[in-house]
Amino acid sequence: MLFQLFPTLIYKENLSISPINMNKIKFSPIGDFNYSTSDNILEQKYFSSLKKEIQRHVDIFTKDILEIENTLNFFITRSWVINIEKINNGGPFHSHSNSFFTGVFYINVDEEKDSFQIERSKSYQYLEYNYENINEWNQQLMTYYPKKNDLIIFDASLSHRVGHHLTSNLRTVVAFEIFAKGTFGSKGSLNSYNMGKLTL
Ligand SMILES: [Fe+2]
Repeated sequence: MLFQLFPTLIYKENLSISPINMNKIKFSPIGDFNYSTSDNILEQKYFSSLKKEIQRHVDIFTKDILEIENTLNFFITRSWVINIEKINNGGPFHSHSNSFFTGVFYINVDEEKDSFQIERSKSYQYLEYNYENINEWNQQLMTYYPKKNDLIIFDASLSHRVGHHLTSNLRTVVAFEIFAKGTFGSKGSLNSYNMGKLTL
């Protein structure tokens, strides 16, 4: 028998969203990607229903699934659009500082070709071994092929990246970060340690 402890969660839902007119967005290139010049893009009027829908799912994930105390409210801080058209090897692995969670909404994807990857967190390993087969217990990398209108939300500490872009079809996503306001550690009770409350 095997026991699985402390799972890594990726929240995923496919949203019912009517098409969004993105003509007004200004972009600037960084490498093979084009980023919106705004990093508050979900504040734009044409994104208001998408922002509401993302917020609804952030609430479900943080309150209904993770059951984080009700003294905290999670909200979207930064949000930006990334357009990719050129064939390229994808982005670097990264995680997001200054946020608790991060997420992506897929507006346009080449389904089954465009991908998103998360790598297993690993501290320094003195000796390395390889595996005869990759299975759910030893896998180091997860490759996910998103569908149009998929929303994913996950912990900001998870190392992730945009996978290879294999065609010149337009891949458009909205990426966002989540922070919290309210009282942290409202049940903190020990005076002798630094376990007190923090209200932001
Ligand atoms: Fe990211």
